[in-house]
Amino acid sequence: MTILVTGGAGYIGSHTVIELLKQNEEVIIVDNFCNSVPEVLNRINIITGKDIIMHEGDVQDKEFLRDVFSQYDFDAVIHFAGYKAVGESVEQPLKYYQNNIAATLNLVEVMTEFNVKSIVFSSSATVYGMNNQVPFNETMPTSATNPYGYSKLMVEQILTDIANSDADWAVTNLRYFNPIGAHESSLIGECPNGIPNNLMPYVTQVAIGEREELSVFGNDYDTHDGTGVRDYIHVTDLAKGHVLAINYNRTHKGATVVNLGTGIGYSVLDLVKTFEEINKVPVPYKICDRRPGDIATCYADATKAKELLGWQAEKTLEDMVRDSWNWQAKNPHGYHTK
Ligand code: NAD
Ligand code: WQD
Repeated sequence: MTILVTGGAGYIGSHTVIELLKQNEEVIIVDNFCNSVPEVLNRINIITGKDIIMHEGDVQDKEFLRDVFSQYDFDAVIHFAGYKAVGESVEQPLKYYQNNIAATLNLVEVMTEFNVKSIVFSSSATVYGMNNQVPFNETMPTSATNPYGYSKLMVEQILTDIANSDADWAVTNLRYFNPIGAHESSLIGECPNGIPNNLMPYVTQVAIGEREELSVFGNDYDTHDGTGVRDYIHVTDLAKGHVLAINYNRTHKGATVVNLGTGIGYSVLDLVKTFEEINKVPVPYKICDRRPGDIATCYADATKAKELLGWQAEKTLEDMVRDSWNWQAKNPHGYHTK
């Protein structure tokens, strides 16, 4: 049985491919490298000792997908491919709706043609919107405030409707909280283009001297130290959740939605201080205005993942900050030489 991983050269996809290979799953990657580089595949090969089969192409290209599907007997698809920058999605909504929604429609149409009816989808805690009380559980109302969030909500809905219309489908929508960290080998990790939008890559770039100081977006939130609280989850724990979701789909038809988070919230300053203590490297910061669209606190109720998938996060914040730093320190320019 073979699993197709779209976006398998990306940050979460590459870590998931490693965990799948460790479980002796056969894996085929599809990626167009719009936000990743081929070097990732060499690194996966070094870590796993296995050759990686990869088809370079765009999920928006249906003929390309048909060609890939005609070559393998896929058991399931893990669909990571998509764009993920919230701010960019506000500026370029069509780009996001094309790549996140239209491409997914292509994918599920081709899956249906080839009778591959199991999918694990990368959704996001962003679908909990601004109005729920923490911890966020899967029964809470969902909403969005930007095209990226709407694209995740819409794809969750589309996949659920497909499963409701055809009892052969197995759909697991995974809502990730805040993935950080890197593989313990320091060979793969997050490699953002340009100025990072997210906290952890910004912190590591300040720590290595690439950027002068971190801007902490607000210290007047109703949290223990006034800075925003999030559920940071190690990317390897997240990756393992996908292996279990694939197994779950093998025995359970229908659509489900599952949070992947630790259930613990840490503030921006908790993360910065832990990073400095564990790695013995300073992270200068200044307090700035709040970032529009941010909520004070976001963390998961992770009960369902444990009950349904037998999954729970194992790594601590200390593991996360150590692995993020080791990746950055050993690869100052990510996968690029300079
Ligand atoms: P990433 O950008 O590192 O990985 C996405 C990969 O998909 C990249 O390798 C990119 O080249 C590829 N890709 C994009 N569009 C494609 C297309 N049309 N055809 C083929 N390949 C394409 O992002 P990531 O952080 O690994 O996120 C993976 C998924 O998880 C995304 O769908 C993202 O929205 C979702 N997600 C991410 C986070 C996060 O904080 N990283 C949180 C919640 C959800
Ligand atoms: C975390 C905390 C910021 C940067 C985003 C997406 C979400 C999901 C994960 C894809 C917040 C603060 C940040 C900085 C800061 N992605 N911060 N200075 O906003 O929780 O979630 O990524 O699905 O959809 O919205 O993550 O890492 O940007 O921010 O103070 O330079 O760090 O205000 O409190 P966020 P983040």
